Amino acid sequence: MNRIAVLTSGGDAPGMNAAIRAVVRKSIYHQIDIYGIYRGYQGLIEDDIKELKVHSVADIIQRGGTVLSTARSEEFRSKEGQQKAIKNLSNRGIEGLIVIGGDGSFRGSMELAKQGIKVIGIPGTIDNDIPGTDQTIGFDTAVNTVISLIDKIRDTASSHDRTFVVEVMGRHAGDIAVRAGLAGGAESIVIPEAAYNFEDISARLKKGYSRGKKHSIIIVAEGVGSGEMVAEKIKKHTGLDTRVTVLGHVQRGGTPTAYDRWLASLMGAKAVDLLLESQSGLMVGIVNQQIVGIPFTQAFTERPKLDLDAYELSKILSI
Ligand code: F6P
Repeated sequence: MNRIAVLTSGGDAPGMNAAIRAVVRKSIYHQIDIYGIYRGYQGLIEDDIKELKVHSVADIIQRGGTVLSTARSEEFRSKEGQQKAIKNLSNRGIEGLIVIGGDGSFRGSMELAKQGIKVIGIPGTIDNDIPGTDQTIGFDTAVNTVISLIDKIRDTASSHDRTFVVEVMGRHAGDIAVRAGLAGGAESIVIPEAAYNFEDISARLKKGYSRGKKHSIIIVAEGVGSGEMVAEKIKKHTGLDTRVTVLGHVQRGGTPTAYDRWLASLMGAKAVDLLLESQSGLMVGIVNQQIVGIPFTQAFTERPKLDLDAYELSKILSI
């Protein structure tokens, strides 16, 4: 393999730049030409492709977002779009592609792999909702961002004796809510993966206040509906002075943590190694602290593993 390309696709995640840097520099180390595709699959269709050099990825390891830009491409879902993409890769003699993104991005990769392009995926999403890897790039940074914001909310919540509902990201997944809820000492966590009812949540809140608690924080994963809806129900059941904070896209930005930079560097390098072994249709994952290659099919069929033990523990610790 002499020539490969890298793109980022779907929602951005802190640490994507560290992964791009690792892919570029590991490729150059092995004397492989490396190309950057801008704006994900849409840029691939539009031939928005440039060769990258060692200096192209200087000074980016600490930056959030993605220097390659990202997009969600409707056109790439069609056979015509995929044909244009393949043509642009073959015109430049690009034999291998590394896709940094979430499961939607990998489904697109499968189509390219079926048509002869060697493709390796790197899981990059703050949601941590990809089966086959213990963690995705960006999750740790997002959780740290959420924790620091919960700490700030706690200051004002306790000054005013208020209940705060904090809505965090996670389209279908409660990973951010559980990790940040446990580490941030939230009084309740509401996630799509576990049944909840407002009588229980309200009873727990009232019990806390009756013992002298001055404030409470309830973390809600966006996948359950909305923080606003949860706050309305809590107000109705308890009459407590309740406010809602939707953290939104601040969770996607910011300087990646050391863990995310480390993970991204290892995963980026592994992706290049897999292409050099002529592998294709694999996603890089971290499983029990080992960096491994997992078939895309496995990443689609298994259920994402949310840490429900941590969820249960949070109930015990936040009495
Ligand atoms: O990247 C995943 C995610 O952050 C989800 O948690 C969220 O629902 C979604 O992206 C929002 O994406 P956008 O606003 O970019 O469409």
